[in-house]
Amino acid sequence: MSTGIKPKREHFGSKFGIIAAAAGSAVGLGNVWKFPYVTGQNGGGAFLIIYVICVILLGIPVMLSEFTIGRRGQRNVFGSFKRLAPNRPWYIVGIMGVVAAFVILAFYSAVAGWTLEYIVRSVHNSFNMQSTQQLSLSFDSFIVNPFRPVVWQLVFMLLTALIVAGGVKNGIERYSKLLMPLLLVFLVILAVRSLSLDGALKGLEFMFAPDFSKVSAKTVLFAMGQAFFSLSLGMGALITYGSYIGKNENLAKTAVSVSIADTFIALLAGVVIFPAVFAFNIEPTAGPSLVFITLPEIFSHIPFGNIFSLIFFILLAVAALTSTVSVLEVVVAYFSEELRMTRVKATIIASVAISVLGVLASLSFGVLSGYKVGGKIFFDVLDFLASNILLPLGGLLIVVFIGWYLSRKDVLEEISNSGTLKAKFFPYFLFIIKYIAPVAIAVILIYSIFFGSLG
Ligand code: PHE
Repeated sequence: MSTGIKPKREHFGSKFGIIAAAAGSAVGLGNVWKFPYVTGQNGGGAFLIIYVICVILLGIPVMLSEFTIGRRGQRNVFGSFKRLAPNRPWYIVGIMGVVAAFVILAFYSAVAGWTLEYIVRSVHNSFNMQSTQQLSLSFDSFIVNPFRPVVWQLVFMLLTALIVAGGVKNGIERYSKLLMPLLLVFLVILAVRSLSLDGALKGLEFMFAPDFSKVSAKTVLFAMGQAFFSLSLGMGALITYGSYIGKNENLAKTAVSVSIADTFIALLAGVVIFPAVFAFNIEPTAGPSLVFITLPEIFSHIPFGNIFSLIFFILLAVAALTSTVSVLEVVVAYFSEELRMTRVKATIIASVAISVLGVLASLSFGVLSGYKVGGKIFFDVLDFLASNILLPLGGLLIVVFIGWYLSRKDVLEEISNSGTLKAKFFPYFLFIIKYIAPVAIAVILIYSIFFGSLG
């Protein structure tokens, strides 16, 4: 027996719990808010095909790499790298992950807070009989308000913190198992409603009929960035969750299931939004305001629209919540294991610190909108920093770590559960991780830094 007291590590309790938690992390605002508008702005069907290729070729292998690092390391993102590569600087990837968690949660919780405001507005039926102009005006005046969005953001952070403070099994797993099926049911109800609108077919055509004339290098860049963000890759959320996956679970199968669930839900969100958008002759390229202005307009025109909008915004809030939980957990696991705090203390310190940054992000739409970096307000700076730099860079280092640093034997041992699983795909996986993924991610990273500096 080893000396000293080993800190007891919690693990997820069931297969469904693992998938619900990891899919809960992946399925979020990225699927329901970002995916439809990015698809809309990038030409619809063609973007979708490229997106799916990115998920299969890069997303699944990177996800499997993250699970592998986490389960083998049995620590938070920093501790796992430190343990697998003692006396080497790989732990820096872990520090980057913790930084990325701060950055993502700061801007993400701002938008997540908006969903709460829109839940309340749906309850009050306040979209009824409003013109697009009125809806857009009331959205714009809401987000520049120095008070309301901040309060909602803090409420959202509090909900996140309460779940994380509950621990891996009694907090994260428990709520994911409850919330993810609810999310699916809500999404199906809305998809059926949207598809039954007159003219819905045009929306499906836009989504599924590819028009490759709209594809450019930028499209591929966006698809890949979106895949990374949507699958929660590149910052250690799935390394942290991987460390809670039991030794007998099949990591590859889990990565495939989670990626399929995430992609399916993004598609389903598109099936809710585009048929409705086309049925009401609205431009699908509205951008970030698509779900906060365009959708309320549609809801205001259909019978029982306020009930459907209530369902939609609860769905959005639920999707966001299981994601913010996974981001906060990265920091909490790090604080509690490396700085030896209790989980509750770590949760309080992490959420308060992140909230401070988050409030600044919220206020950058209004009172702080004059402070810009490279022409971007603080919110956009955080989004850009996370989606275009930290996540791809983290992803790149993660695949290099698995492909070139860890030994083939170690990686195979972890993925095959010490030889109990066949893992016939292993040579292909390794080929992608060693050669294809690093090159593809590096190209995208350079390209997006370049694009960013131009923008
Ligand atoms: N995947 C989440 C979404 O699509 C966002 C996220 C990114 C969560 C990175 C964790 C880590 O909304």
